[in-house]
Amino acid sequence: MTRERLLTGDRPTGLLHLGHLVGSIRNRVALQDRYDCYFIIADLHTLTTKPRKEEILKARESIIEMVTDYIACGIDPLKSTIYLQSAIHAVYELNLIFSMMISLNRLTGLPSIKDMAKAAQMEDEGTPFGLIGYPVLQAADILGPRAVMVPIGKDNESHVECTRDIARRFNHLYGEVFPMPEALIGDVASLIGTDGKAKMSKSLNNAIFLSDDPKTVEKKVKGMYTDPNRIRADIPGTVEGNPLFIYHDAFNPCKSEVDSFKERYRAGTVSDVEVKMALVEALNKMLAPIREKRAVLLADKGYIEKVIVEGTEKARAVFDETLKEVRSAMGLSGTWNKLTRAAREYKGSADCA
Ligand code: TRP
Repeated sequence: MTRERLLTGDRPTGLLHLGHLVGSIRNRVALQDRYDCYFIIADLHTLTTKPRKEEILKARESIIEMVTDYIACGIDPLKSTIYLQSAIHAVYELNLIFSMMISLNRLTGLPSIKDMAKAAQMEDEGTPFGLIGYPVLQAADILGPRAVMVPIGKDNESHVECTRDIARRFNHLYGEVFPMPEALIGDVASLIGTDGKAKMSKSLNNAIFLSDDPKTVEKKVKGMYTDPNRIRADIPGTVEGNPLFIYHDAFNPCKSEVDSFKERYRAGTVSDVEVKMALVEALNKMLAPIREKRAVLLADKGYIEKVIVEGTEKARAVFDETLKEVRSAMGLSGTWNKLTRAAREYKGSADCA
């Protein structure tokens, strides 16, 4: 029996952090037996905000680290396909075709695009056409293998909505070629940063990386933002929205310990330091096997490269098959054959005259 397909992935910006883990990696690992999984290294998407050659080369370098993190977290290259977006020609073609299936207004109205333009400080020069088309390119990724399941963080939800709009429009115009993909948002839709800012992100310097060593984790947790009004351990503190407890909820498997900390925090009978040290322990326990696996994987760099090359070849075949169907449904296939034949016939009749 063939399994339905799942597709998701990341821009290669480097090491993965806890936000990636709860946002989508956990779902990926959990679903890899149920779906035929495709994990994209979205290097073309990186161009939308980082077009300079130095930036491109830097992104290239970070690919190995990122894929190492994937595999260390439990993504199994024997079960799943990890591939490089820019090496799939069909993506460029689908991107153009899909750009006809959605309005500019729909795209420019998306807050995620504005946020990305703002973060990249692109507002002055004007937002590039390609950045506005970010969700269209993402639709090419998702619809290329005709994925039905897309595990993502909250910030990408609107892009999957666009993909559905594009698929619907395409099917309406040319017949049922695409299934409707569904977004699956992680347990923690968007993980707060260690500084209490809305989102954990490498560029905000508020991230705990999956590859951080135990000492670094301890240092970062000790410096974490908590309830700012709680200047002493005997002052009752706020648990809701407190990053310390958000992390305990997300990463400490011992729920009774977490509940008791919450109770004592509210009552003012536990210090921030004690709650932090328990978090350090829980995180390090969770990260230890990931760190070990990373070290083993990085000892053989050729292995990760091989995984990507083989995955890309497999993905290419799947995308090509869809593109062929797309072109045929649209009446774009066989065009050259017909034109060649017409030219030959024309020449023939000229000969007769
Ligand atoms: N947009 C994703 C990000 O924020 C990366 C990505 C590109 C993606 N294409 C995708 C995610 C397709 C899910 C499905 O980094």
